[in-house]
Amino acid sequence: MTASRSVSASFWFAAVAALALVACGASGPEPGSAEAIYLGMGCAKCHGPAREGQKSGPALAGLHERWDEDGLVAYLRDPRSFVESNPRLKYLDEQYPIAMPAYAEAPETELRALARLMLDS
Ligand code: HEC
Repeated sequence: MTASRSVSASFWFAAVAALALVACGASGPEPGSAEAIYLGMGCAKCHGPAREGQKSGPALAGLHERWDEDGLVAYLRDPRSFVESNPRLKYLDEQYPIAMPAYAEAPETELRALARLMLDS
């Protein structure tokens, strides 16, 4: 009984360790990729890790129907300037307790990578 218990304990230890290794190695986006920038800049906290939307932010899907790359970059730098002139964004803004923050200081290359990522979906 004791022996079999210790065998199963070490089996589980190995299984958990293997899973942890897989999780560290395989999950998580490529460093420097648009997905990594999205996570690194905190967008996922409000829009969800897969841009699926959650209580604090809308889903970022179908954006290519409404935005182009330059427009999105300008929006990310200063979302407030769009809200007043765009009824759809104004309505969206009113649905959430905390508004979309401005990323005025973010590097152009990162904002462009984010814009392309969002236009892809
Ligand atoms: C504090 C929560 C929060 C964070 C962090 C955040 N957003 Fe938002 N985002 C919102 C909310 C809320 C809106 C709805 C519009 C508004 O409030 O102005 C929005 C709107 C948007 C829109 C417009 C969506 C549409 O339908 O046109 C885009 C694009 C967007 N966010 C991208 C991003 C990206 C990219 C990041 C990270 C660089 C980010 N957001 C970070 C909350 C957030």
